[in-house]
Amino acid sequence: MSTVSDPALPLRYPFPPGELGTPPPVLEWARKHRPVCPVRLPSGTRVWMATRKDDITRILTDARFSRDLVHEGAPRFVGEDFTSMAGGIFNLDPPDHNRVRHVISRFYTRGGVETYRPMVRRHADRLLDAMAEGLNPADLVPAYAAPLPLAVSSEILRVPVEQREKYHSFFRTQTNLAVSPQEVAAATEAVIEFTGEVVEAKRRTNTAGRAEGPIEALIEAVAEDEISETELQGTVAYLFVTGSEPLVSPLGTGVVTLLTHPPALRDCLDDPALWPKAVEEILRYHHNGVLGMPRVATEDVRLHDVTIAKGDRVCTPMLGATWDPAHYRNPAKFNIHRRTDGTATFGAGPHFCLGASLSRMFLHTAYQALFTRFPTLLLAVSEHDIPWELDLFFTKPAVLPVAWDPDSP
Ligand code: HEM
Repeated sequence: MSTVSDPALPLRYPFPPGELGTPPPVLEWARKHRPVCPVRLPSGTRVWMATRKDDITRILTDARFSRDLVHEGAPRFVGEDFTSMAGGIFNLDPPDHNRVRHVISRFYTRGGVETYRPMVRRHADRLLDAMAEGLNPADLVPAYAAPLPLAVSSEILRVPVEQREKYHSFFRTQTNLAVSPQEVAAATEAVIEFTGEVVEAKRRTNTAGRAEGPIEALIEAVAEDEISETELQGTVAYLFVTGSEPLVSPLGTGVVTLLTHPPALRDCLDDPALWPKAVEEILRYHHNGVLGMPRVATEDVRLHDVTIAKGDRVCTPMLGATWDPAHYRNPAKFNIHRRTDGTATFGAGPHFCLGASLSRMFLHTAYQALFTRFPTLLLAVSEHDIPWELDLFFTKPAVLPVAWDPDSP
């Protein structure tokens, strides 16, 4: 782990990343020296950043920190992004939050997501067949890491992939830290419009009223007065934002990490029962969103030597938690045999990631399919020449050239 000398405060986000997609070294500095550290976002907004796992858990489970960001002056990274969308599960505090989450949670339980596993495998095999037929070396991002999550999430949400692809650039702009606030706001408008079209089309065609997927369940809940139309639209829009992009990052970063840690990869190939352990360690090692979503204090809260005043904004980078040496021995070491798991990467409290079980099942299936099909896979460039996307919420390789022995079984 590299170290940084005392930086100027407030820190400026985005932070320079660590090597090979690992956490920005400044998180380690902050955890040691300023556990509640002032940070300036690209929008100019100032937030407090907590980096110790215990503090992060405390904030995420403390009702005095609100996730309702649908108001004038709410903290934004750049501009009016998805955190500004009214009614979404993401932006609700309990008890409204529980009411909306309850409508869709059954589609994302551990048992529920197992029903998707054969579908994930089918899409993985289809993409890997095409890769085997194509160029060698290949860029794994367009060949596998990007299309697989999109195909899977489109099936779960029961929305044609071509329709989703049309709006992909808007999703990307919403999570870009280097564009203008106007571009972000326009992308959010486009997502809201897209969501409205999808909901309307489903209402037209699903006349049997069967809730076969999460969007249908939300539509039915409106019909039964369980949730409002705004909650439906906001939550569907958020399912589009979260559904696929957060999986592109760990798929790409995980492959880089496994290829640069051959003993871990060999262990998984020799004993496939180890894949879930490898998934946990990749999730711990590479959270894909660096700073986490902001919260607003509804009362003064004292934490270490700082008073977080009512109205102050707080961010909780999950990488702070999953690299906290008080909880993970030698956190910079990638070790698939750890006893501790990667749960902290998915947050804590009422907003704990709805897609946690889905992500675990998806990554397990996707890594295993890839490396079983291409056991000789290797990086086609030096790991230090892999370009990383640095302007997005999500850390991921922009290009991932890989090669394999075509004659290997
Ligand atoms: C490895 C990939 C993923 C990671 C690391 C991740 C991480 C997180 C984290 C940290 C939160 C909590 C945010 C907060 O409290 O401020 C969250 C919330 C959420 N995630 Fe994920 N996520 C991932 C994949 C997914 C996927 C595939 C879905 C698809 C359904 C998803 C859906 C959601 C939703 C709907 C919420 C909001 C839940 C709520 O507000 O009740 N996530 N995620």
